[in-house]
Amino acid sequence: MVNPRAVLFDAYGTLFDVYSVSLGAERWFPGRGKQLAQVWRDKQIEYSRLLTTSNHGAHYEPFWSVTEKALRYAIEFIALGAYSMPASDPFGLKNEPLDTHQIISALMNEYRHLSAYPENREVLEGLKSRGIVTGILSNGDPAMLNVAVKSAGLSDVLDHVISVDSIRKYKTHPDAYALGSNATGLQPKQMLFVSSNGWDALAATWYGYRTLWVNRAGLPAETIGPPPTRVGTSLRDVFSFF
Ligand code: LAC
Repeated sequence: MVNPRAVLFDAYGTLFDVYSVSLGAERWFPGRGKQLAQVWRDKQIEYSRLLTTSNHGAHYEPFWSVTEKALRYAIEFIALGAYSMPASDPFGLKNEPLDTHQIISALMNEYRHLSAYPENREVLEGLKSRGIVTGILSNGDPAMLNVAVKSAGLSDVLDHVISVDSIRKYKTHPDAYALGSNATGLQPKQMLFVSSNGWDALAATWYGYRTLWVNRAGLPAETIGPPPTRVGTSLRDVFSFF
């Protein structure tokens, strides 16, 4: 098979570490930062799907707003657990009402500047030096993607930063994946789509892209649909396609 002519990356979870917020969350929820980050991420994805599949997308909201509302839910979820704790009150939260507004604003600010995975730049540079078109194809809205790309110092190694916001439909809607081939003028089969989200790699495979699932968390493979073209553990595994 000929080499891919373009490589598109998912953003959140793939280039930017959505779980890096766990540490900041520890400040308010000692010992439960990781759980907050997980509930936050799961709710964010659940809401994105609800907004795209219900009433033909009539309730669409940009990803920043979805992310903030998912955080609000996650805080309630974690706080509920803390408040219903037995008398020992291990988090010391019982008598101290949470300043939800302050927590949301601090954690959303962290989300704006999520840690980037260390291999991002070297991989994107390696692709550029081979003459490969590079890009992001993400649920993120343009403003949040631009800040994330700039703070990670990746602007000069990305040819495209594609947001589904232009069509107001989240992945895994096929119109969202179509944005990648529309932007590059290439057929999905001529391109590689890279995601650390198993569901995203699966839907991109269904759409027709060649896919790399970067299984950073060592999760089980999806049990529906075809497997991704390849599975890796870091972005460096894109080079196995060349
Ligand atoms: C994205 C999320 C879904 O960047 O990870 O599209």
